Amino acid sequence: MTNSETKATLSFSDGSASLEMPIYKGSVGPDVIDIRKLYGATGMFTYDPGFMSTAACNSSITYIDGDKGELLYRGYPIEQLAVNGGDFLETCYLLLNGELPNAAQKTEFVDTVTKHTMVHEQMQFFFRGFRRDAHPMSVLVGTVGALASFYHDSLDINDPHHREVSAIRLIAKMPTLVAMAYKYSIGQPFVYPRNDLSYSANFMHMMFSTPCEPYKVNEVLVRALDRILILHADHEQNASTSTVRLAGSSGANPFACIAAGIACLWGPAHGGANEAALSMLEEIGNVDNIPEFIKQVKDKNSGVKLMGFGHRVYKNYDPRAKLMRETCYEVLNELGLQDDPLFKLAMALEKIALEDEYFVSRKLYPNVDFYSGIVQRALGIPTSLFTGIFALARTVGWIAQWKEMISDPEQKIGRPRQLFVGSPKRDVPPIAKRG
Ligand code: CMC
Repeated sequence: MTNSETKATLSFSDGSASLEMPIYKGSVGPDVIDIRKLYGATGMFTYDPGFMSTAACNSSITYIDGDKGELLYRGYPIEQLAVNGGDFLETCYLLLNGELPNAAQKTEFVDTVTKHTMVHEQMQFFFRGFRRDAHPMSVLVGTVGALASFYHDSLDINDPHHREVSAIRLIAKMPTLVAMAYKYSIGQPFVYPRNDLSYSANFMHMMFSTPCEPYKVNEVLVRALDRILILHADHEQNASTSTVRLAGSSGANPFACIAAGIACLWGPAHGGANEAALSMLEEIGNVDNIPEFIKQVKDKNSGVKLMGFGHRVYKNYDPRAKLMRETCYEVLNELGLQDDPLFKLAMALEKIALEDEYFVSRKLYPNVDFYSGIVQRALGIPTSLFTGIFALARTVGWIAQWKEMISDPEQKIGRPRQLFVGSPKRDVPPIAKRG
């Protein structure tokens, strides 16, 4: 971050105050105006619901150019990482450490993560407290938060070693917890991790093995899962990441912060969109129903949205959506499902929407979730677990951003202000005099 020669000046039309504010330049992307002295100098706050114009921190992890449809992790384009960047654990290393690992670093990192894949045996009793039909996201909010009560030896957020160990534990244990949530929901025994398998193959094993039948690793499907994880690993200051940072800004432990992120991700405008997109395709049913559906989407009173379309930052094709569509082809071909009706429906819907003035004028393009549901369904993952897979992938991004925040000397407890529009001070009337 460097100081710009240019300064911003705020002046009021009634001449009551004038304030000069520094402008900072990042390495790429929009500059920012430092408004920290604004309240002291003018007694006023800024007003920015939804943080449309507010940078809440500086970060060197992920960069998005929404107009170009570009996503970079530590400077590397997502397309290169997804195709040539190795597996998900390489992306994890990159996000956490800033550089891609060399061969020795990779071996050591994989070894370390692998040694933390089991969860405390007592954790299974938490699962047993849930109804079998509990939503996996509710189970994950609870069980990830509960990790804090098992791993006291890595809770000191001021100790860099503790932070590192917690980060590794979260990355290593999330697949185990997500698979346990699934197994519990279908009444099958929990399956322990296998450390001879890759991160994604081990997850498939914990999901699909039973004591009577091992899961046979299919490399195409494992690669597809790995790609889903890479594409969802981080996305700069989105709602759940900002939630993790805000929770962490009070000094809360990392397990509690990630549980907060999972809670935020659950919403249909964020991570829940992959589940919602698939349900939407199933509801539309076939290509003939698309025009009627699009009519409803355009009707503001209907409350219907084209799920998997639109993004706060991307005003162009989400680069992750292109990669996910490619993966969709690969997986469906591998499974002999080339004629999958939902995939055909999704492609027809995308084509119609991309030509429609409503979507074109609002710059609404498919986002990653438009196709990720179809891939996950083909992998055998139930719809209700889609957002759980997103949480599993995003954990590394959350924890990398949390670590960055803790070591940032400018970090302060997050405490937004408000424009108060309620009643000014008044006296409590006796009950007989209340209207
Ligand atoms: N279908 C129909 N209309 C839409 C959609 C949509 N999916 N998304 C935005 N619009 C319209 C919106 O009604 C508004 O129209 P108007 O200007 O006439 O009022 C205009 O486009 C601008 O939308 P906005 O709500 O101001 O945009 P936003 O930046 O606040 O919202 C969003 C972004 C992702 C919440 C929204 O596009 C949405 O709800 N999309 C569907 C849910 C979805 O797919 N979410 C996944 C996001 S990617 C995964 C992730 O990172 O979590």
